[in-house]
Amino acid sequence: MATYRIAPSILSADFARLGDEVRSVIDAGADWIHFDVMDNHYVPNLTMGPMVCQAIRRHAVKADGSSVPIDVHLMVEPVDALAQAFAKAGADLISFHPAATRHVDRTLQLIRGEGCKAGLVFNPATPLDVLDWVLDKTDLVLVMSVNPGFGGQTFIDSALRKLEQARKRIDASGRDIRLEVDGGIKVDNIRAAADAGCDTFVAGSAIFGEKDYRKVIDAMRSQLAG
Ligand code: DX5
Ligand code: ZN
Repeated sequence: MATYRIAPSILSADFARLGDEVRSVIDAGADWIHFDVMDNHYVPNLTMGPMVCQAIRRHAVKADGSSVPIDVHLMVEPVDALAQAFAKAGADLISFHPAATRHVDRTLQLIRGEGCKAGLVFNPATPLDVLDWVLDKTDLVLVMSVNPGFGGQTFIDSALRKLEQARKRIDASGRDIRLEVDGGIKVDNIRAAADAGCDTFVAGSAIFGEKDYRKVIDAMRSQLAG
């Protein structure tokens, strides 16, 4: 039985109150904080850098004082220097898009060498083939169910087939690798993603678009339990 993780994306939070938003969504039951980094080059949008990650690091804690992982999703090109900067800024997991770096294997090693978990992200039209060669250096596979760049887009159904394929590869490897989905996840489709083999769910607008974060996260969890 999978241990499901819900990772609210603060892309849809109130940026003017980011520390409070991080605390509220953790109080509401968030397992990870998903942190979207966009550079207006790899994707047509511009968001947050390492200084913002560092600023929220001390807010990403549970009431009992335990740390909540910051899941950095780099939509930047090139990757290496920023990945290092985010590791120093307190990121726990750092994921990147293989096409955005020259040497995927080297970038994975660099992230792990900084003491972080390393993830690979697959756009809707990108095949999983690269995993054949680097799964032993990968801690997280992130399947995009929208084109990266914006919150609030509609879930692309073919992501379910890709999740199934990724799940097969992960299970065949016997390794401890999380399978995450990102984009358009809501209460009414989270179960389908779980059935396709996903264990970690990013949700931005579905959570931050509602007043009561706990109500949404609880509803997602009851879908996963059902
Ligand atoms: C999109 C980002 C997502 C985004 C998801 O490029 O990677 O993490 O915040 O937002 P929703 O859940 O609103 O689709
Ligand atoms: Zn993301």
